Amino acid sequence: MIHRPRGRPPRTARARSKVFPVTQTATASAAVPAPKHLPDAQTVTAVRHWNDRLFSFRVTRPQSLRFRSGEFVMIGLMGDNGKPLLRAYSIASPAWDEELEFYSIKVPDGPLTSKLQHIKPGDEIILRPKPVGTLVHDALLPGKRVWFLATGTGIAPFASLMREPETYEKFDEVVMMHTCRTVDELEYGRVLVESLKEDPLIGELVGDKLKYYPTTTREDFPRMGRITENLKSGKVFADLGIAPMSAKTDRAMVCGSLAFNKDVMEVLEGFGLREGANSEPKEYVVEKAFVGEGV
Ligand SMILES: Cc1cc2nc3c(=O)[nH]c(=O)nc-3n(C[C@H](O)[C@H](O)[C@H](O)COP(=O)(O)OP(=O)(O)OC[C@H]3O[C@@H](n4cnc5c(N)ncnc54)[C@H](O)[C@@H]3O)c2cc1C
Ligand SMILES: NC(=O)c1ccc[n+]([C@@H]2O[C@H](COP(=O)([O-])OP(=O)(O)OC[C@H]3O[C@@H](n4cnc5c(N)ncnc54)[C@H](OP(=O)(O)O)[C@@H]3O)[C@@H](O)[C@H]2O)c1
Repeated sequence: MIHRPRGRPPRTARARSKVFPVTQTATASAAVPAPKHLPDAQTVTAVRHWNDRLFSFRVTRPQSLRFRSGEFVMIGLMGDNGKPLLRAYSIASPAWDEELEFYSIKVPDGPLTSKLQHIKPGDEIILRPKPVGTLVHDALLPGKRVWFLATGTGIAPFASLMREPETYEKFDEVVMMHTCRTVDELEYGRVLVESLKEDPLIGELVGDKLKYYPTTTREDFPRMGRITENLKSGKVFADLGIAPMSAKTDRAMVCGSLAFNKDVMEVLEGFGLREGANSEPKEYVVEKAFVGEGV
């Protein structure tokens, strides 16, 4: 029996280590959470560095925290001025997981990530337990196929939704398009997708429903090109041997830079999809992966 998304997760370390090899292979988990000193403190249990620009980590989950797969929370560290330094982060783990997982950029001079990138198991971070966001199943009308469209760290909410049983219960087909500049930036998503079919909890549900379409734009890779171009040209439909997008059957969730979000929304509208929200479900929803012009 698969746990329903809003139910409480199974609290067994065994289930976690099999389901989440993404963050379990590189470092040992902290056995006993340290005493909590920060306000809204949670303890880091595992950290994995994917390259010099990206890392993922897991923290303890507040007993009271309920969230919908795809939502984000504010997390951070205490700043030098003694005030919390918080940023929005998508929860990359599914709603039923016993811990919380995050996937993060390392901005060299970023106020938060220049420090956050040095956390290790046993350290504390601040986590405000108020999840929000638009990338949730409730914001989409029923359909046959759902598209997860992400650039860079925008894959984080889909790392949650790809592990969410509701995704496979609601849709016959799930297409994960992830585009990064370089091959090493795809690695977190690739390892996660590969682990899903063997996953003892949701592997059977995933089956052949999940189609993964990673591309790069600035380094040679078997599949290349921007998501917008691969949708407009029809290359992704041809490569996967699937029907083109249609408002009748297809739903989409988008998470990337402002420029990407804007351009891909235009493409989706071109296929006849309309933007929805929690209060008014339609054919697609959008969220920013970050705010700002560049690092
Ligand atoms: C709704 C929402 C969800 C988010 N979820 C995540 C997440 O899951 N993982 C994550 O790494 N970040 C996420 N972010 C971005 C995050 O809030 C911070 O901006 C990031 O952690 C950097 O913090 P900083 O203080 O080091 O630098 P900031 O001062 O916040 O950012 C400095 C500059 O770095 C660039 N930048 C910031 N974040 C990113 C990014 N993720 N990818 C590419 N460039 C970036 C921007 O150009 C920004 O102007 C999210 C942002 C929003 C609005
Ligand atoms: N200085 C550096 O070496 C360096 C390296 C990485 C990132 N950065 C900076 O960090 C910030 C975030 O980097 P990021 O790599 O996470 O995000 P990004 O620049 O948005 O690129 C991520 C992926 O999205 C694609 N993309 C960008 N804009 C798009 C659009 N309008 N439509 C469709 N696809 C689009 C990019 O393709 P394209 O490659 O075709 O743009 C790339 O494959 C950027 O603003 C960038 O300036 C700097």
